[in-house]
Amino acid sequence: MDKIIVHGGHQLSGTVKISGSKNSALPILAATLLTRDTCVIHSVPDLSDIHYMLQILSRLGAQVERASGTVTIQAEDISTVAPYDIVRKMRASVCVLGPLLGRAREATVSLPGGCVIGDRPIDLHLKGFNALNATSRIEAGDVKLFANELKGATVNLEGRQGPTVLGTDNVMMAATLAEGVTVIEGSAAEPEVVDLANFLIKMGAKIEGAGTRRITIEGVKELHGAEHTVIPDRIEAGTFLAAAAIAGSEVTLRRVNPEHLNAVTNALIDGGYLLDIRKDQITLRSNGTPRPLELITDPYPGFPTDMQAQMCALLCRASGESRITEKIFPQRFMHVSELKRMGADISLDGFTAVIRGISDMSGAPVMASDLRASAALVLAGLVADGMTEVNRVYHIDRGYECIDEKLAGLGAHIERLKSKSAS
Ligand code: EPU
Repeated sequence: MDKIIVHGGHQLSGTVKISGSKNSALPILAATLLTRDTCVIHSVPDLSDIHYMLQILSRLGAQVERASGTVTIQAEDISTVAPYDIVRKMRASVCVLGPLLGRAREATVSLPGGCVIGDRPIDLHLKGFNALNATSRIEAGDVKLFANELKGATVNLEGRQGPTVLGTDNVMMAATLAEGVTVIEGSAAEPEVVDLANFLIKMGAKIEGAGTRRITIEGVKELHGAEHTVIPDRIEAGTFLAAAAIAGSEVTLRRVNPEHLNAVTNALIDGGYLLDIRKDQITLRSNGTPRPLELITDPYPGFPTDMQAQMCALLCRASGESRITEKIFPQRFMHVSELKRMGADISLDGFTAVIRGISDMSGAPVMASDLRASAALVLAGLVADGMTEVNRVYHIDRGYECIDEKLAGLGAHIERLKSKSAS
């Protein structure tokens, strides 16, 4: 398994280009199953999660071609069974359920297993499919969906922790080819849901209200091919802003949508950083030690759970006590014990991390546990004294395109040690 080695204490400066959004690209690629025609998707990031999704689409019968950031897919004839050996590698595989049900009126997809950031149920996805007149059952570890006819309906997808992003995506995709009108109440309003809706609209779907808490979909007979460019990854952008805040002098992010980053940029401004926000770029000037912050993760436009770990790393060196409360995935604190191994003073009070700022952290061998936790450890390594060795970096490769190369381009002393078995 590859490792990332970070030698702390080197200031970051310069410009970094943000890649296409992983969490937009995954459901958009799945949505190409809704048509027999060719779809062309640009700005698809080169990530292991994307490779898994392309493998699933190929196994379902689609012709997939990839040339740098552009993926061309034609799913002329498809099977409806997504096998465990690929699906188990990535939880987001569940987002082929909606397109398969919409197009073929049936789907068999292996149920995603446990996840280190907490329980990841799909009850709300199934509630939505059931409302559209599909039956669902779990058999031998698979979710099986079937519908003689898909019929539009009104369904509320708000769960105990708020709306569901992939659940909204899934039901919206199935509903594009249902008979009649579907209304999703309590829908997720994340920019990635809007990006998917925009792609579906280009394919001929009739969708209104994406980006609000109520989406209306009028079913159509069929969808056609379309071309689309995936939005910039707001979480990759937020991670580089946090890196710049931790270790930067002045760093500019290019190809960003600042509107999608308001919660993060507002937090950084509250932390005392100077931000110059333009149409599609953001420059952060670091002021050294941040002021302490109180953050609560919430559905969009609230502070994103996917930035919680990185802000935890930043606030380890704030001038006082910060608190971060996790409301979306209350167990998502695996990075805390690893940051403590680097000297951080953090305690957990229920779903809140209480972070008392310290002036120095020290490099250590640490273990990446999930995607965003790994990013937090790399960020902490940028300012820790000595060397930080981040193990199990396959987690980071799931969601950050060349993070080591991009940070090195900004002046970080960072290298990847390839495992001997790697090809
Ligand atoms: N939930 C349910 N029932 C469901 C679905 C979700 O109770 O049927 C709960 C979850 O347990 C959680 C909350 O609802 O407490 C929100 O989960 P959501 O369904 O929105 O998560 P997701 O769609 O599976 C996406 C992103 C995650 C991101 C979350 C929240 C993708 C591929 N994944 O997951 O991204 O954290 O939304 O914004 O889009 C990441 O990129 O690191 C990542 C984990």
